[in-house]
Amino acid sequence: MAQPAGACETKPWRSEAAKPFISVRNIVKQFGDFTAVANVDLDIYKGELFCLLGESGCGKSTLLRMLAGFEHPTSGTITIDGENMARVPPDRRPTNMMFQSYALFPHMSVEKNVAYGLLREGLPRAEAYARAGEMLRMVKLEKLARRKPDQLSGGQRQRVALARALVKKPKLLLLDEPLGALDKKLREETQFELIKIQESLGVTFIVVTHDQDEAMTLATRIGVMKDGVIEQIGEPREIYETPNSRFVADFIGSVNLFEGKIDAAAPDLMRIETQDLGAVLLPPQSGLTLGQPVWGAVRPERFALSRAKPETAPNAWHGVVEEMGYIGHMSHYRIRLANGVLIRASQSNRLRDEDPISWDEKVWISVQPSAFRVLTR
Ligand SMILES: Nc1ncnc2c1ncn2[C@@H]1O[C@H](COP(=O)(O)OP(=O)(O)OP(=O)(O)O)[C@@H](O)[C@H]1O
Ligand SMILES: [Mg+2]
Repeated sequence: MAQPAGACETKPWRSEAAKPFISVRNIVKQFGDFTAVANVDLDIYKGELFCLLGESGCGKSTLLRMLAGFEHPTSGTITIDGENMARVPPDRRPTNMMFQSYALFPHMSVEKNVAYGLLREGLPRAEAYARAGEMLRMVKLEKLARRKPDQLSGGQRQRVALARALVKKPKLLLLDEPLGALDKKLREETQFELIKIQESLGVTFIVVTHDQDEAMTLATRIGVMKDGVIEQIGEPREIYETPNSRFVADFIGSVNLFEGKIDAAAPDLMRIETQDLGAVLLPPQSGLTLGQPVWGAVRPERFALSRAKPETAPNAWHGVVEEMGYIGHMSHYRIRLANGVLIRASQSNRLRDEDPISWDEKVWISVQPSAFRVLTR
């Protein structure tokens, strides 16, 4: 990836010399003969908002619990701020964790729930409650400070748990699905709040989520997990534009995959012979050999649709609009080619088009060579 000047200061993971705040090396967690986390390596830098993203059961919570010290790794090492965590109990780690089931103390008021950790540390009552109040304002719950958890909605309880995790200003905050119970609108608002809070406190966050939009919005970098393994680590844009596998390409956003073989590698353009599209032209990519089986991946929004045959597009096919879904800012299309192949395309509705391409129309569908990504697994 190209590195803009000064990027290494704000994006330390791009620099070889930067020292990670958290280093996870070859971490394994087995429950009996089931491997929940398999040989994970991970470096996280100070001030990052790192998202662990993956389907239910892929090992996200288990990895987070090992960082917090609530679960012992079967093997491997975890270093936080230069210290090996192997023998450090949870309450002695520079971490605080907000659990997926954010068990609040039911008999305590909202503000006491938030202040509790500070009171236990011996902070004077007035100061502990003042800081709790500040956190409750941040999560917009100051009006409910006197209520008990069972008098709150699920989303409100979740925000109490968030305030409780933030109030101690730990060096590392581990958040397991912190926004899972919030409705869409509140969730989006809270995402931006969370980024602001994280920036103003200067705390390093690791957030677990199975919501890809949330990970894309929040993260400095994302680790995509599958079956206990981290499949790819990268900035949101990197994960979207240059996925390293069919799994990641399909998991983040929507993608068309075309199986084929490298057919010719000219210096300026490479050709893949695919079953579905015939020959496809794309920019040359290193590390590929003639005849190698590959998949060409294209995001739906990279296709252009037109009634007339495009004059310059090297990759163009003719088909019929089989389905169309108008969702306001975009329209989603399914185009059936003459050979029966179905292609997913989408167009952003930038203009108030009076005559949009619609059902049963014959259309040309084309794509720039640079919009293809070649995947080898
Ligand atoms: N104590 C345990 N004993 C046995 N298996 C466990 C234990 N804890 C977790 N697992 C298994 O390990 C796998 C990973 O669990 P984990 O809770 O880390 O998943 P997750 O990615 O957080 O999923 P979700 O999104 O549903 O919370 C699951 O298959 C789970 O059943
Ligand atoms: Mg979980």
